[in-house]
Amino acid sequence: MTATGDCRSDAFDPSVDVALKRGNRNAKWSKHSPDALPAWVAEHDFRPPPSVTDAMAATVERGDFGYHDIEADVGAAYARWTAARYGWKPDPEMVHTCVDVLQGVTAAVTALAEPGAGVILTPPIYHIFLQICPTARRRQFEWPMRCDPELGWTFDPDDLEALLQREPDARVLLWCHPHNPTGRVADARVLQRIVELAHAYDFYVVSDEIHADLVYPDSSSPFVPMQSIPGAAQRVVTVTSPAKTFALSGLRCAVMAYADRNLRRRVREAHPPLLLGHAARTGIDATIAAWTHGAAWTDGLVTHLHRLRDHLVDRLRAEVPGTVMHRPDSTFLAWLDVSSYGLGEAPAARLLQQAGVATSEGTAFGTNGDGHVRLNFGTSKAVLDRIIDRLVAGLQSLG
Ligand SMILES: Cc1ncc(COP(=O)(O)O)c(C=O)c1O
Repeated sequence: MTATGDCRSDAFDPSVDVALKRGNRNAKWSKHSPDALPAWVAEHDFRPPPSVTDAMAATVERGDFGYHDIEADVGAAYARWTAARYGWKPDPEMVHTCVDVLQGVTAAVTALAEPGAGVILTPPIYHIFLQICPTARRRQFEWPMRCDPELGWTFDPDDLEALLQREPDARVLLWCHPHNPTGRVADARVLQRIVELAHAYDFYVVSDEIHADLVYPDSSSPFVPMQSIPGAAQRVVTVTSPAKTFALSGLRCAVMAYADRNLRRRVREAHPPLLLGHAARTGIDATIAAWTHGAAWTDGLVTHLHRLRDHLVDRLRAEVPGTVMHRPDSTFLAWLDVSSYGLGEAPAARLLQQAGVATSEGTAFGTNGDGHVRLNFGTSKAVLDRIIDRLVAGLQSLG
């Protein structure tokens, strides 16, 4: 909607304005030298739908940036969005904003695992999660994923149970759902088992669902919100935002959702009330617009990314067959095993230096990261082809 209430087309536009990205000091495009092509940080390159930019333009036009009373509207927008897309409707009153997903995740993890208690991660794992325990003085436990040559990266709940038997102090599973960097979408059977184990072994699940909208039609499982699993209410806190789907990370607005009042109280009361702060008005307005009007645009985005994912797989198989890429169920992230090229301990650094492509170093994702790089394919086909050209040339010359 425009400021005057007219509708503009929310068709997804797959083009990328590289000059704008670089000129706008977008971190993805400006961190490395201007010659390098960025495929690192988990952000796609597309403009959000007009309904989002129009909502922000209307916010600016009104020029009223004071305290507001629309916090509750975010919960209602989130509830409508998840009900329409995933068939699960949270109670809007049990949703509150925070500044970003990592803030909400850290708040929930530190509320539910006392100092010295254990937090379980699923490596290879989104590298920023690895910073939480050392700085918050919690113990870090690992439930490593398994790699099957056919199925790719999977979760084995029996491994989780074995860990819980060994480590009775584990109080939180920090659950990345869908999973960054592998793109795996855990199915309802795995989710159900986790919830059962949470009751049996007395731990909580902090479910980061920021990548939920980016699940491909041929995924091994549809996306099932963790809280929709029977028995999840007393054990699960969900943290999410529209930032990955709509590339809104700079606007700083996320939500924390609960289904149990005691759990919400426990998380809220664990921290001084002023510490979490509130999301910004601009971020809230953009979030509500995205979750209210962004469905068709999101479908267009997923269709585009799906094509690019398969294009990437096809080109790598044909041109650098020593690279192993399991088709991700979701996300615009490819977790590439390049170990057969003998690039040493830091393959991403070598690829940046030799090929001019900035990927993320696999070892940053912890256990299971050796010999891997994470490549972001969330861009235009033209930019992705340039990235693949360079990657292929680099791997062929270095390997
Ligand atoms: C799983 C996951 N959670 C959280 C974030 C960061 O979200 P935010 O910027 O809202 O903290 C990312 C960004 O890559 C992510 O992949």
